[in-house]
This record gives sequence, C-alpha cells and structure tokens, in this order.
Amino acid sequence: MNKTENLMDKIISLCKRRGFVFQSSEIYGGFGSCYDFGPLGVEIKNNIKKSWWNEMIKLHENIVGLDASVLMSPEVWKASGHLAAGFSDLLVECKDCHKRFKSDELKEGPKDTCPECGGKLTESKLFNLMMKTFVGPVEETASPVYLRAETCQGIYVNFLNVLDSMRLKIPFGICQIGKAFRNEINPGNFIYRIREFEQMELQWFCHPKDADKFFDYWKEERMKWYEKLGVKKENLRLVEVPKEKRAHYAKRQIDIEYKFPFGWREVEGIHNRGDWDLSNHAKHSGKDLKYFDESTKEKYFPHIIETSVGVDRSFLMFIADAYEEISGGRTKTTESKKETEVVLKLNKGLAPVKAAVLPLVKNKEELVKKAKEVYLMLKPYFVSQYDEAGSIGRRYRRQDEIGTIFCITVDFQTLEDNTVTLRDRDTMTQARVKIEELKEDIQKILNK
Ligand code: GAP
Repeated sequence: MNKTENLMDKIISLCKRRGFVFQSSEIYGGFGSCYDFGPLGVEIKNNIKKSWWNEMIKLHENIVGLDASVLMSPEVWKASGHLAAGFSDLLVECKDCHKRFKSDELKEGPKDTCPECGGKLTESKLFNLMMKTFVGPVEETASPVYLRAETCQGIYVNFLNVLDSMRLKIPFGICQIGKAFRNEINPGNFIYRIREFEQMELQWFCHPKDADKFFDYWKEERMKWYEKLGVKKENLRLVEVPKEKRAHYAKRQIDIEYKFPFGWREVEGIHNRGDWDLSNHAKHSGKDLKYFDESTKEKYFPHIIETSVGVDRSFLMFIADAYEEISGGRTKTTESKKETEVVLKLNKGLAPVKAAVLPLVKNKEELVKKAKEVYLMLKPYFVSQYDEAGSIGRRYRRQDEIGTIFCITVDFQTLEDNTVTLRDRDTMTQARVKIEELKEDIQKILNK
C-alpha cells in the first residue's frame, strides 16, 4: 500500500470510527457514492456552512440569501443547457459485464476491450448527468422532472423576485446553500465525488463592463476564506481552465485546487457566466429579465460571476489539511510514548466539539458530580462532551483526534478552590481557571 492510500484509509477510518461520516444504507451493504454525516460530521458540516454564510451575508455588502426548492420546472434545465450535450459524459459500455467507462479516461486512449473483464466495448455514447424522477401519483402519466444538478438555477429563476422584493441595485449578490444531484459516472475518493452533495454558491450580478474586475475580486476573496480557516497555503492553488475544458456556461473559469492525498483536485469553481443564464431563461420563459438602471436609463442583462464550492468536498479538504500524526506521541506519559497520536488541528470555528469536561478519576463521587455540573454549565453555549472513561491521557488523545479545542479537567484542587485546568489542543498547555470565569474565557479565545 502506498503512502497516499494509507493516508486516505486513515482519514476514512477516523471519519467512521469517530462518527463523522458513514456509508449510506450500510446495513444493506451500502448504497453507492452516497454518505451520511454522523453526530460529529454534521457539526463540522454546519460549521462550514455557517462560516461561508457569515462570510457572504455579514462580511460583504449587497449580498442576500435564498433557499430555492430542489425540484423545478423541467423547462429550467432545457434553458440552462443541462439537458443538452454540454452536461453529459461520453461513455463506452462493456457488452459482457456492462460496466461503463468515460471514453477519455480509458488508459492508453480509446480501445475496444473492457479493462475489467476483457469483454467487447460499445461505441461511445453520451450519458446525461441529470437525475430524473416523477411528480404525480401515477408514474406513466406523470411528467419527468429533474433533481437539480447545481443550486444556482434556483437563483436565476428568482432573479426578478429577489430584485423587486429587496429593492437591490447592481452590483449585488444572491447566495444559497443546498443539495445538488449528479449521476456521476466515476464517483470516488470517499466524499470527494458523490452523487448527492451540497453546494454553497454565490451569484454576483454586475454590469458587463465590470465582470472582469469582479471575477478577479471574487477569486481573491475566496482564497482568503480558505486561508482564514487555516488551510495551508502551500496546499491551495488557482488554475485557469482552458476553453475546451470549461463548463458549457463559462466564458472564463478558474478552479481553486487543493492538494488532496490523491493529488491536486478542484474544490471550488469561479466562473464568469456572462449573460448565458439570464438571456436563456428570458428566451425560454418569455419574461423580461433585463435590469433597468434608473440613473443611466440603460437596460441590459447583468453578467454573472459565480463562486461555487461543495460542502462535502471542502469537508474532506478541511479534515485532510488538519490531520496530523505524531509518531511516538507528543505527551510524556509512558503509555502514549508507545503510540502514534493523532491531532485534528481543525480551525476553532470548524471543530465539532469545543469543550470536553473530564473528571480526573471516575471513582470519586464529588469529582464526578462537579465535572457534570461544569459540563451542564457549558453545554448551552458550546458543543461539549463529558467523558470519564479511561485514563486522563487516553481521554485527552480521544479528544485531540476529533479536534476538540479545550479539555477541562476537574481534579482534587477543584474541590478546594473551584478552579479547573483548561488544556489547549494545539499547545497542550494547561491554565488554571476559575469555574465562574470559564465560559467567558472560552468564548474570548474562540472569538479571537
Ligand atoms: N454552478 C456551478 C457548478 O455547479 P461545478 O464545478 O460543476 O460548478 C462546483 O461544481 C463545485 O461543486 C465543485 O467545485 C465541487 O466542490 C462541488 N461538486 C460538484 N460535483 C460534485 C460531486 N459529484 N461530489 C461532490 N462535490 C461536487
């Protein structure tokens, strides 16, 4: 097994063992390329979404939010070009084992035998990535509808509603977080490419002459967000996508790539979509989707700069970037010296658990009682855990592995002076803190 596989295996194992990510429908043997987020995974996911939403809504001007439905009129997808060849993969199928392969990904170029079983392959054929379902009580008579393949179409079809109800002026943005679905032919790399995923998308509407300026602006802003959340600079890069590889709607496209254990891959796309979406929806719907500028009396289709990142994909990036192994252990107890310790150095805002309260020993009734009191005191303010099982060193390591920011230990001194030790995950330093000041102290550090 090579080093890369090894690291991915360790991340996948940690995600399962510690309640971050489970295979969908596992008791039935698993359902391909779909994953469930466990108790700690959902905390991280919510933290990622909260950070992105705050970034857009609170830290930028002129951006409003939206939550559009997954199911939309099928006309939307005709207008957007997603039902056409532009959102399809060229595939070949094995006539024997019926496995499908992307034509351009078959090793050694096009060939006529199956790389899995040696069977004969069909001619290349286009397969659309949109997932189809039916609305209505009887499938045969119902009309097919599609699960959205990107969240932004819900924004374009609400362009007029949002513009009118919020009395916005160009330039402005509409952002949305929500599920998207794609019948990916080659899903894989754990939660990197899946069939049901979440996107966080900003659509920035501007005057055509300002599109290039805003494209550069948003590219920089998005890089800053990753760096603010502690992603290592050397693991991020911007890649200009050449014309032949761009999405069908993009006049210009830059991908933000992350150095995953399996190589450099896209985490976010920055697209100049020009007037592709609004002009096509205007044509198909018959509605006037042009913007009228009162001050200049100019009427035009705004151009759109889009930033689009996957929640699940960035989740994998944040975990991979934060994962650190210390062979031989970083604490000095004899027990830990023998073991490799794992610390998940997640950003304070992203960490699933902020505080763990630990009685030094579990067989001393007063200590346990006091520790539970401290836990109940903190719990309404921070996601917290109470843990009394095993040696204190082992409990610290359990918390380090899930990235808990603080371990609070209730010891014999606590019973005398109402202080506890506050241990920092990254430095392992322990400060003695009064219980009555604990909440403010933690809050202060988390808000820094
Ligand atoms: N609206 C533009 C759009 O959807 P995209 O490059 O197809 O652009 C944007 O997708 C982002 O959505 C990707 O950078 C990735 O983070 C996420 N994404 C796309 N397909 C995905 C999949 N199958 N699994 C997980 N995330 C995916």
